[in-house]
This record gives sequence, structure tokens and C-alpha cells, in this order.
Amino acid sequence: MSNTLELNSAHYQVKTLELKGSSITYRSFGDLVYVENPVYPEFQKMNLFVPEGYYQGEMINGFSAETAPIFFPNAVGAYAAGRADQPGFNFRLWARDQVNALFVALQKGFVVAAPASRGRSLQDRQGHFAGCAPAAIIDLKAAVRFLRHNRGRFPGDTERIISNGTSAGGALSALLGATGNCSDYEPYLEKLGAANERDDIFAASCFCPIMNLEHADMAYEWLLEGLDDFHSLRFHTENGKLIPEPYEGLLTSAQKDASRELRQMFISYLNGLDLKAGSKTPLRLGTDGLGSFREHLSDLLRESAQAALDRGGDLSDCPNLHIEEGKVVSFHLDGHVKAAGRMKPVPAFDVWENNSAENELFGTAESQFQHFTKYGLAHDTGGGSLAQPELTRMMNPMEYLDGKTSDTASHWRIRHGSLDCHTSWAIPLIFAEKLREYGKNVDFQFAWGKEHCGDYDMEQMFAWMKDVALQ
Ligand code: DHB
Repeated sequence: MSNTLELNSAHYQVKTLELKGSSITYRSFGDLVYVENPVYPEFQKMNLFVPEGYYQGEMINGFSAETAPIFFPNAVGAYAAGRADQPGFNFRLWARDQVNALFVALQKGFVVAAPASRGRSLQDRQGHFAGCAPAAIIDLKAAVRFLRHNRGRFPGDTERIISNGTSAGGALSALLGATGNCSDYEPYLEKLGAANERDDIFAASCFCPIMNLEHADMAYEWLLEGLDDFHSLRFHTENGKLIPEPYEGLLTSAQKDASRELRQMFISYLNGLDLKAGSKTPLRLGTDGLGSFREHLSDLLRESAQAALDRGGDLSDCPNLHIEEGKVVSFHLDGHVKAAGRMKPVPAFDVWENNSAENELFGTAESQFQHFTKYGLAHDTGGGSLAQPELTRMMNPMEYLDGKTSDTASHWRIRHGSLDCHTSWAIPLIFAEKLREYGKNVDFQFAWGKEHCGDYDMEQMFAWMKDVALQ
């Protein structure tokens, strides 16, 4: 028998949660399977939380039961499956002592819909890989459709769904925002028995999105070519848990050659995008990798340092900043890149051994890993094949911004740590400028001093969400 998509609004628990001296009371609708024919019910369900005040006719933070936006945080990391989250402490390794965004959202009068979604490494009973692309985005879209299908059965405005995610989750937030109602995803949604509803969203918040994967290797070498040692943590999954291990070394001479080659490929790619800063000044790169695009990146990083200074930060020990009387008067991008350091070898994502997280994302039911660039395939040492171009495209938000096939979200907030080299800083910058070109409202900033993380500026994030939602 198939699962019902009707929310039973009488089936809830009232909960009170006190964390770090603040308390919230909310109704919890748990374990809502959002498709009729789930293949992995544990990862195709969501939790829905509503501030109790809305059932008592209260206004919270300027919102009512009718106008409250729906905060939609995915729990994806490293392209693995994400569990349906709940208010409490942050589940991410780097932030376990922090109250999570779900808790803060409820305090601020948002309804919270926290979806699980399938991801790489999941296997079904027959041993087939059940979470490779495009599973995660299909699940998030199905969850959005479920919310629309049940509008009126719970407080909250289904025309004000605002997604949020970090890293691979940031990429999925971007993809959800970019691809509203796009027919490419329809056959997959139909097969799962997703509600027959729209799946566009109002706004997307993306922290350090690991996206535009087809161009991420090139972009990485444009930023980091010349830095020959890499240091990072690598994650593997054990029983659905992400386990970190140190990953460091020196590039081989073949990798150094590839780095130079990829860097040149990025220059062609970037110039072909015909980007303009704020839709005005052309952003270009010369064959030496220098030019207005790099200067724009440098300006944005300098602005992010200035913002940190203006907030009262002490940046006096940053050797790449020259500060006079509270103003950053110069910024040395090359030195800053060196200080941040290379985290990944060459190529960073579509690795020749065909065994990265992203290779696994593009695996198939039968083969766990695949390449997703022709360059990766051409250098393959791991016996990998190439993912279908349609699938690679379906995971790239950049492909859906021109308004021809999708209803892209109107409002965007993108943050990337100034020390976060999990992907090239060019990646979020290109995305932000493309969104602006297509008329979207974009708030993009580098977050000075931040490494790879998200949800670190929740006061500002929820103020931004409130601001756009009440427009
Ligand atoms: C994540 C980090 C990565 O470096 C990557 O390649 C993919 C995902 C993450 O933290 O989600």
C-alpha cells in the first residue's frame, strides 16, 4: 500500500526545549514520509515544527500563522544522505556545541520543515546504490511538494519556503533554488509518487556550496596553482556516519602539469561566461590568470576584512592586510591564498583514481563511482566511466538560471569563508554574479576568517530571511 501524502494535523506532540538559557515551545509533526512510494523511507521523510504561539493566535517576530515563512534546512554533508533534523545542537562535527538553526528559526517565528534526503553510499537490500545523483535533489523537491500539498493544514506560508544548507548541503540548497518546477526532474518525482504540486521555492541560503562540479577542478587550480602541498581531512562513511581522517601530501609532477592545464581551462571557461560585476563591469582573465575577475575577487575579500574590522574584530595579525585608522587600505590576495592553503590534490574533485565523494555522487545503481568530466575520464586510473551528461547537468544550479526551463528563486544569500579552500572562491562568486545577471536579489559575501562551516551568523541570516519574506 502506498504512503498517504495527507498531513494529519491532529497527530503531533507539544515540546518545550531549553538550550543555553532560551526556551521554545512548538508542535512537532515527526517522520512525515513525503512520497507515496519511498525507496528509502528513513531518508525520504521530514520533521515539521511549528511555534506553539501560532495556535494561540500570537504574532512572533512580525509573523502570523498565515505569514510565517517556512525554513527548510537540509542536513546534507559531503553528498551523503541527510537525516531529518530537529531543534537542538548542530549535528555537524565542527559545531556540536552550537544551538542549531532549527532552534533559532522557531524562536524567530519561522515554521521549520527539516527534510531527510538520500545520498551517496546508500545501498538497498539488493546491494544497489540507491542515493546517487539525482536522488538528493529529487527528495528535496518531493519534500517541497509535500508542504504545498498540505498548505492550510499547518501554519506557515508555502509561498515563502526558504532553504538552507552548508557545503554539499549548500550546493543542494542552490540547486533547489535554481531548478523550481523544471521538467528534467519530473520522471523521477513521478516514479516516487511525489505530490503533484509546484516545487519552486522563494529563497535560498547557501553556505560554501560545493557546486558547479564540472568546473570545480579548473577553478581550484586557477586559485591554487603553484601551491604544491595539500592538507585536509578526508571523510568516509561508516554506518551512515561521516568519519574524518587526515589527508595530506605533495603533488606529483603529473599533477603539477595537470594543475597548469586545468588553470588554463578555467581561464577559457570564465571568459566564456561573459560575467559582469553587479551586471556592469566585465569580469575577465588574461592568459596569465590575472585580470578584472581576480581583482573583483580580491575586492570582495578586502570588503569582508573591512566588515570584520567594522564589527570590532582584531585583524592586526593578518600579514596580508594593511590597515590604517580602521580601514583596510590594501589586501594581498596571493599571500592570503597561500595562508589559506591547498586542501585538495589535483584534480580536486573528479579524481583520477575515481574514488572521491563527487565520483560517488555520480555513480550508478551498479557502479559506485564515475567520472563527471572528460578531463577526469581521460586521466582515469581507477577503471571509471563517464556519468551521463544529463545527470551532471541536473546537479549543477548554474545550468538552470536563464529562466527558460525553471522558476528560479528570487532571493539568494551566499556565504563562503575567507579561509575555506574546500572549493575555489571563484565558484560562489561566479554563481552570485550569474544570479544577478538574471535579475535575482543576491546577498553574497565572503565571511572573514571562517573556514569550512555554515550557520555561523544566524542573527544576520534570519534578519535577511525576515526582510525578504516581508517584502
Ligand atoms: C563537502 C566538503 C568537500 O570538500 C567536498 O568535496 C564535498 C562536500 C562537505 O563538507 O559537505
